Amino acid sequence: MIREAVVTSLDGAGRPHLAPLGLTGDAGRWIIAPFRPSTTLDNLRAVPFAVASYVDDARIFAGLVTGRRDWPLAPTEPGRPPRLAAALSHATLAVEHVEDHAERPRFLCRVESLVAHRPFEGMNRARAAVLEAAVLITRLRLLPREKIEREMDHLSIAIEKTAGPEEREAWSWLVEARERFYAPG
Ligand SMILES: Cc1cc2nc3c(=O)[nH]c(=O)nc-3n(C[C@H](O)[C@H](O)[C@H](O)COP(=O)(O)O)c2cc1C
Repeated sequence: MIREAVVTSLDGAGRPHLAPLGLTGDAGRWIIAPFRPSTTLDNLRAVPFAVASYVDDARIFAGLVTGRRDWPLAPTEPGRPPRLAAALSHATLAVEHVEDHAERPRFLCRVESLVAHRPFEGMNRARAAVLEAAVLITRLRLLPREKIEREMDHLSIAIEKTAGPEEREAWSWLVEARERFYAPG
């Protein structure tokens, strides 16, 4: 089971870094597995704590993969990274073990605390579509253009049918990033 979260980590100077990352559940632990190169990876080696923010605002996922990094933060426990202010809940994770790997090291984390902030008000297809498309946008260099366009065309059905203004805005950022990537010159 992989849970999509926005992970906050800290560099050696205590500066926070946000990244959307999949957390893999494994026997009561969560595994963070960033592909190299990754700021999150460097940070977890320097400061072995992470905070996973669980959010329902799709703009944060779309924003982070399209260069919009300025999302309000809120403090958590002392010495731990901050969470997203928009988090419905957050988990504080302590790195217990690192499995090194040339491409994708794995950080095995214990959950120190899990705190709820706001109610979750249900699934939404457009938000799920934004999440899928955000993953595609991080793979523009790796996947064929035809696959990216076909999959986004399909995902756009959920946007047309079920999005609110925030999901439409998130979607527009992703389409814009795709168009910029394929623009000639
Ligand atoms: C929903 C979602 C899940 C992602 N999961 C991962 C992941 O598990 N590992 C990874 O390396 N990148 C993942 N990415 C891509 C990263 O967010 C992106 O590469 C980011 O820049 C991480 O690198 P950083 O630590 O340098 O910020 C995911 C992106 C999205 C939108």
